[in-house]
Amino acid sequence: MRTYLVTGGAGFIGSNYIHYMFKKYGDEIRIINVDALTYAGNLENLKDIENRANYSFVKANICDKEAISKIFAENDIDRVVHFAAESHVDRSIKNPEVFVQTNVLGTAVMLNCAKAAWENPDGSFKEGKKFLHVSTDEVYGSLPDDENAFFYETTPYDPHSPYSASKASSDMLVKAYMDTYRFPANITNCSNNYGPYQFPEKLIPLIINNALQGKKLPVYGDGKNVRDWLYVEDHAKAIDMVQEKGRLFETYNIGGHNEKQNIEIINIILETLQEMLPEGDPRKAYINKDLITYVEDRKGHDRRYAIAPDKIKSEIGWEPETYFKEGIKKTIAWFFEHEDWMKNVTSGDYQKYYEDMYDTKGAK
Ligand code: NAD
Ligand code: TYD
Repeated sequence: MRTYLVTGGAGFIGSNYIHYMFKKYGDEIRIINVDALTYAGNLENLKDIENRANYSFVKANICDKEAISKIFAENDIDRVVHFAAESHVDRSIKNPEVFVQTNVLGTAVMLNCAKAAWENPDGSFKEGKKFLHVSTDEVYGSLPDDENAFFYETTPYDPHSPYSASKASSDMLVKAYMDTYRFPANITNCSNNYGPYQFPEKLIPLIINNALQGKKLPVYGDGKNVRDWLYVEDHAKAIDMVQEKGRLFETYNIGGHNEKQNIEIINIILETLQEMLPEGDPRKAYINKDLITYVEDRKGHDRRYAIAPDKIKSEIGWEPETYFKEGIKKTIAWFFEHEDWMKNVTSGDYQKYYEDMYDTKGAK
């Protein structure tokens, strides 16, 4: 039975990936999830699979060499899928250090421990071992307002935020391991994800949550920054396909040609909420464009991201399956059905975060 070590599996994409993998492979695989449970990690995301015999959870920090090498020593790990990271650009602008710690040093620890466990005495690697480093399109920097400009795997790195700089550094470390040791790895650079279990510091869940409560909807700058949105399950499927069918040592860009301005996203969410809320629901009265509030722009705000997914499509046959209109409905339906999840994650520290981040911007 193949054993996966998933880092950051209690976060947004990691927990969706674990659900996807059990749905696809059932009892054919074993998953060990290692997560430090920061503010972004939530074991509630994994409630329905936590009692499976082929699943286990280890609470540990990826910077903790001893804890990570112990996992490799006690288990014959075949695949590493490395999600664990600090992932929010706004937080990285306020507090960059922890991004370097987790994203750069944590990745170095993961690479070292996997290398030590998988290396043969002659420097080659044991058959079938693979490391997949989950990264972002933000490492490529910012595109101009030109709908024919895209990020390719060959686009030079040009990160701007502390978040993207730390992810770019971690990608470079993985590349260095591949080039120096022929360490068996892949890198995937994906566009913005949305879907169930996303923490409401990111645009889509924040807007859904605020709109449902009649709170202001903060739009940074002119609202015309473009992001390329992908439904999270399509990302999970792409990661699995890269490990199954991709060529080792290659980078694959993942994205679905779904570029939208932030203001368009907000308008679609407002319309979809109106459509989905039942007649007579009191929230229908206040969910409208009057909630939109333009606030101070993010520092160094990248203008436009757009992925060219040609390589993953032609080499591996991956294509996104979820149209945005359908994905946003599924996401909103999930939030309707999981009001307690939202209440739990927005109680306590979240209030303080929200005040710190948005008070000065004028959208409290
Ligand atoms: P997230 O913030 O929702 O989850 C991150 C997880 O990592 C959490 O469970 C957290 O507890 C854990 N973690 C953080 N620091 C840790 C540490 N030091 N040790 C162990 N665990 C730690 O992030 P996400 O949105 O699910 O993103 C997952 C990965 O995908 C990240 O590497 C991110 O850069 C990448 N990515 C995200 C997006 C996106 O749109 N969210 C797009 C492309 C790539
Ligand atoms: P975000 O979800 O933080 O993802 P990223 O910065 O990694 O792309 O933000 C998506 C876009 O939405 C980005 O252009 C910033 C913008 N944004 C707002 O306008 N208001 C908000 O409250 C947030 C969180 C983001």
